[in-house]
Amino acid sequence: MDGRAIRWGVLGAGGIAGTVAVDIAATPGNVLHAVASRDADRAAAFAAAYDVRCSYGSYTDMLADADVDVVYIATTHAQHHEHALLALRSGKPVLVEKAFTLNARQAREVVAEARARELFCMEAMWTRLNPLIRQAVAIAASGEIGDVLGVRTDLSKLFPYDPAHRLYDLAAGGGALLDLGVYPVTVAWMFLGRPDAVQALGTLAPTGADVTVSQQWHYDRGPVAQLYCSAAGPSPFGGLINGSDGWISIEPRLHRPQQLVVQRGTQHEVIEAPPVSGNGYTLEVEEVERCLREGRTESEHIPLDETVAILDVLDEVRRQLGVHYPADEE
Ligand SMILES: NC(=O)c1ccc[n+]([C@@H]2O[C@H](COP(=O)([O-])OP(=O)(O)OC[C@H]3O[C@@H](n4cnc5c(N)ncnc54)[C@H](OP(=O)(O)O)[C@@H]3O)[C@@H](O)[C@H]2O)c1
Repeated sequence: MDGRAIRWGVLGAGGIAGTVAVDIAATPGNVLHAVASRDADRAAAFAAAYDVRCSYGSYTDMLADADVDVVYIATTHAQHHEHALLALRSGKPVLVEKAFTLNARQAREVVAEARARELFCMEAMWTRLNPLIRQAVAIAASGEIGDVLGVRTDLSKLFPYDPAHRLYDLAAGGGALLDLGVYPVTVAWMFLGRPDAVQALGTLAPTGADVTVSQQWHYDRGPVAQLYCSAAGPSPFGGLINGSDGWISIEPRLHRPQQLVVQRGTQHEVIEAPPVSGNGYTLEVEEVERCLREGRTESEHIPLDETVAILDVLDEVRRQLGVHYPADEE
């Protein structure tokens, strides 16, 4: 693919697929080559709406298209494992929507397949590429706010209760934790790494899916973290990093913050977000493109071992909450 555009195949023609498709088209060096849906009419409508060259009424047909350079897995969480494996076994590199898989076992299988085939694989955890989040991590790591004592993170949004909606349906990988909680968990991890102890409390919907989840993490070296997510109502809070000589506030929401407020001793600074093009996903499109052009099978900014390790923690949180997916038994 020296010099020529990266040709994307979008697998699943749902909501986020359209949002990210706009950003693929808006990122120089990338083109929307194909889209696949279980429904040929939906694929054709998506192709017409987003100016995609080819549409397929089956995922396997698109994966057989030799002109697809990379596949964006945009199906629901419960399908990521099956569809990522399907794409990798067809020889295609993959960008897999969050949550990467339902549990760590599934994630290990996908990562092992990608590594065995030496194919690129990345979780579409776009917040890890966000310049403000990366700047906040760099400031904390530099010692400018002193020793990091604690991290508080939150991502919440109202999903009105509907037992048929994927967020409340355990068979579809329902629950606030895998939909929203992956952000507070990932961002806290970026500052502090793997916790030594995890405690979780939460509220479950009548379907058994978690609706509000509160976590406490502890690190033997000292710091603590408090993480919150809820699908029962919105929250303006993003994140707060407390240091022994200051703090960093990530505002107003965690997945796509607008500013950092940094207190270094007596110095107060507000850092505004740099302009981001499109819907905010161009950074992950650029990252996939960079890795493919450099022949990388993994992004150092979204390491696969961390994707798996984070799912290990989410498995433990679900165990404590009593949230079980049918796939956990496989
Ligand atoms: N990064 C972000 O900011 C962000 C934002 C929203 C969602 N997401 C993630 O993106 C994924 C999709 O979310 P979405 O909101 O786009 O969902 P959605 O609108 O329901 O679309 C999901 C698509 O998955 C496909 N699919 C394949 N098998 C399915 C099955 N058995 N049941 C249901 N759908 C199936 C369907 O595509 P076809 O029928 O066309 O084949 C469906 O349109 C989720 O994992 C979610 O966490 C990420």
